Amino acid sequence: MFSRALLALAAAASVSATSQGFNYGALKSDGTTPNMEADFESQFTAAKGLVGTSEGFTSARLYTMIQGGSSTNEPTQAIPAAIKTGTSLLLGLWATGTQGAFDAEITALKSAIAQYGDDFAKLVVGISVGSEDLYRYSSQGQLANAGVGVDAATVIAHIGSLRGNISSTALSAVPVGHVDTWTAWVNGSNSAAIEACDFIGMDAYPYFQNTMTNGIDVGKSLFETALSETQSAVAAVGNKDVWITETGWPVSGKTENDGIPSLANAKTYWDEVGCPRFGNVNIWWYTLQDTAPVTPNPSFGVIGSTATTTPLYDLSCSNVTSSSSSSSASASATGSSASSKASGASASSTASPSQGGVSPAGSNSTATTISTAVGPIATATGASNGTVSTAATPSATSVVTGSGATMVSGSIVGAMGALFVAIMAL
Ligand SMILES: *[C@@H]1O[C@H](CO)[C@@H](O)[C@H](O)[C@H]1NC(C)=O
Ligand SMILES: *[C@@H]1O[C@H](CO)[C@@H](O)[C@H](O)[C@H]1NC(C)=O
Ligand SMILES: *[C@@H]1O[C@H](CO)[C@@H](O)[C@H](O)[C@H]1NC(C)=O
Ligand SMILES: *[C@@H]1O[C@H](CO)[C@@H](O)[C@H](O)[C@H]1NC(C)=O
Ligand SMILES: *[C@@H]1O[C@H](CO)[C@@H](O)[C@H](O)[C@H]1NC(C)=O
Repeated sequence: MFSRALLALAAAASVSATSQGFNYGALKSDGTTPNMEADFESQFTAAKGLVGTSEGFTSARLYTMIQGGSSTNEPTQAIPAAIKTGTSLLLGLWATGTQGAFDAEITALKSAIAQYGDDFAKLVVGISVGSEDLYRYSSQGQLANAGVGVDAATVIAHIGSLRGNISSTALSAVPVGHVDTWTAWVNGSNSAAIEACDFIGMDAYPYFQNTMTNGIDVGKSLFETALSETQSAVAAVGNKDVWITETGWPVSGKTENDGIPSLANAKTYWDEVGCPRFGNVNIWWYTLQDTAPVTPNPSFGVIGSTATTTPLYDLSCSNVTSSSSSSSASASATGSSASSKASGASASSTASPSQGGVSPAGSNSTATTISTAVGPIATATGASNGTVSTAATPSATSVVTGSGATMVSGSIVGAMGALFVAIMAL
């Protein structure tokens, strides 16, 4: 009886306790057009029904609480779309910027709680205060002109504010954390940020690790090194879950060292990195769709420019055997086969973890190279001189189509709404 109850609990937990889905920016790929409720709804519907998938891509990670284009701190219209489609939410508050900009994020969240109540609250699986702020703040990020970030103390203070503001609301029990690049998490200077979090959101992109051997053949091992190093850094601080908040391999675009975008490589990465984890751990892939209205370089979308359930490549995980789930063993195996050149080239494993894995140390890469090494690095050309306004408006297009990691467009685009509001408020 007792054990049967435990089994039932365990079964229920394994079904309902994990989230898998995609990342959704506040703006479309042109960097200026806001996603409206209908846009979010059509994407959430497509994600749920993706041909070949069975786990159900029913979760959405957001970067900001503020509706794109809003000048009144209107909550993101992703919320009513999520309610309509039964999509769970990893909420995000943009945390780099003025105090007023962060206050606006809090205001929008409180408005959403008031407006949508329990229909909204029951969908929320977590709240991330910030996205890659620590990376952008780091010497790596600065060298890469990745844009403006904030330090761990600021992230921690904002986490405290968020906790205070939700403590007597329907979201009081929701886990609160922060999303950053794996290199930021393994930087020992950021351990207090780990401590402040209930969960750790990790972004990792082997494709961008262009100071290393980073072909698709080692994509899985690079990812698993990033994950295990992050888990070790987290375990040193406390017992907290590491959620995979962004990863993916591009279907088209420029080559990053050995990292070649293609449909075949994107599928291999999906099979080797995604399939063993879907349904088992919380994971938000980058990304469902990034080609409407313009195709970025590189492009990561698993569907094309319309919100269709037909993917660009086979998402069925049919090539993945169940033994793939025991990924750590195979990870170290493939890791060692790749290690000779990779570790020499730079080093996520040999360079001092406290300096970040894919660090510029030991590599002779240019700032641009470095910028793309860690991933979602925004190379927000407009933001690199610290001016919020240039980041928020016209340069959005160059962020999306320009020099660096478009990927970033996820983050930067996500931020646009918040920054836009901040500017409006000035
Ligand atoms: C590690 O974090 C500290 C504190 O934010 C930062 O100053 C430093 O640049 C980071 N190290 C690297 C290699 O990014
Ligand atoms: C709510 O958040 C704001 C920041 O926007 C902060 O100043 C305030 O102290 C927070 N309230 C509580 C009760 O923590
Ligand atoms: C994956 O499966 C498809 C069809 O089932 C097959 O054609 C393809 O060769 C397989 N790929 C790998 C890498 O096993
Ligand atoms: C890297 O750059 C340093 C200084 O610019 C130079 O001395 C060194 O030879 C370079 N290493 C390689 C492998 O190019
Ligand atoms: C900041 O960069 C933007 C875009 O490159 C440029 O238009 C702007 O003039 C710069 N502002 C300053 C103060 O340098």
